[in-house]
Amino acid sequence: MTDTGRHEPPLRLTRADLDALPNYVPGRSPADLARELGLPEAIKLASNEVPYGPLPGVVEAVAEAVAGSHRYPDMGVVALRQALAERHGVHPDRIATGCGSVALAEHLVRATCLPGDELLYSWRSFEAYPIIAATSGATSVRVPNDAGHGHDLQAMAAAVTDRTRMVLVCNPNNPTGTAVRKAELDRFLDAVGEDVLVVIDEAYREFVTDAEVPDGLTYLDRPNVVVLRTLSKAWGLAGLRIGFLVAAPEVAAAVRKVVTPFSTSMAAQAGALAALAQADEVQRRCALVVAERDRVTEALRKFVPDVPASQANFVWLPLGDRAVGFGKACEARGVIVRPFPGDGVRVTIGTPAENDAFLAAAESALA
Ligand SMILES: Cc1ncc(COP(=O)(O)O)c(C=O)c1O
Repeated sequence: MTDTGRHEPPLRLTRADLDALPNYVPGRSPADLARELGLPEAIKLASNEVPYGPLPGVVEAVAEAVAGSHRYPDMGVVALRQALAERHGVHPDRIATGCGSVALAEHLVRATCLPGDELLYSWRSFEAYPIIAATSGATSVRVPNDAGHGHDLQAMAAAVTDRTRMVLVCNPNNPTGTAVRKAELDRFLDAVGEDVLVVIDEAYREFVTDAEVPDGLTYLDRPNVVVLRTLSKAWGLAGLRIGFLVAAPEVAAAVRKVVTPFSTSMAAQAGALAALAQADEVQRRCALVVAERDRVTEALRKFVPDVPASQANFVWLPLGDRAVGFGKACEARGVIVRPFPGDGVRVTIGTPAENDAFLAAAESALA
């Protein structure tokens, strides 16, 4: 093959401002790492998936659905929206689905922000937020996390201006695992005007054990609150790409207008319906993850005392400049984690055996 994928001289066909965005760097493949190290397998604790495979019945439901894959899926996502509505005790008009909750976050920005409008969020948080802001033409306003690595909601309320159209509250926060509690969220919502959309991103809600951390759905009497959920994590459907939001009917309808047509695939709709019938199994798996999260946190604190308490299915090591070196040391022992250069390392909770392998690697890197 002779195509180098480049033109000489370079052509400028796309927006210059996109040059400032990072290129997507795929995570290390466990198969490649295992081959390189001569190990039977490597362990991936880098993407916050639950390690126990698809839920019972999901593979069969998807196989049955894709037998009709020469047809378009149901664009109204009627059966799945109805099932989600029943599960959460809301009207289906309040629900929109999308190709992962990350796509819905993007659609929400598209539905609220014109170029120059402000999207406010805490930082460090989910790495997609700045990319979504930049690609939509919104201006990112980042409020630094507090000393405990969580949202500083008071500072965030103070950062709202008359250009702020949308605020993201990541609860629990990716990648630090911290969570905001009811009293502070109540105060924040009272302080922010009702004309600003507040999106509570609850991708990790199923792993929350602190009774003081509120379920975003209890705030739906406020028309400016949107709750974002995913089936990628606790529900084991990361590869099928399905998330949903619950909002005021007018907001959900606006999102359904801007959503890429048919982006909730036939496989995703069928897989999600099958998964929703497995709520007890999800709860059982989440309890395993939570027990392991607490064990891993305690073990890590012997070496890194300020590991914050996590309410999600991952833990955060605030290692600063040692983050990249720590990531490399784990990889050398066959464990892939997620370093954020100069800041910290996020480690997903795996099976007990995977966590043991990680803790052994961490101990040798940190001791
Ligand atoms: C905070 C947060 N929100 C949203 C998502 C997106 O999840 P998905 O697009 O798979 O639904 C993630 C995934 O890592 C996340 O961490």
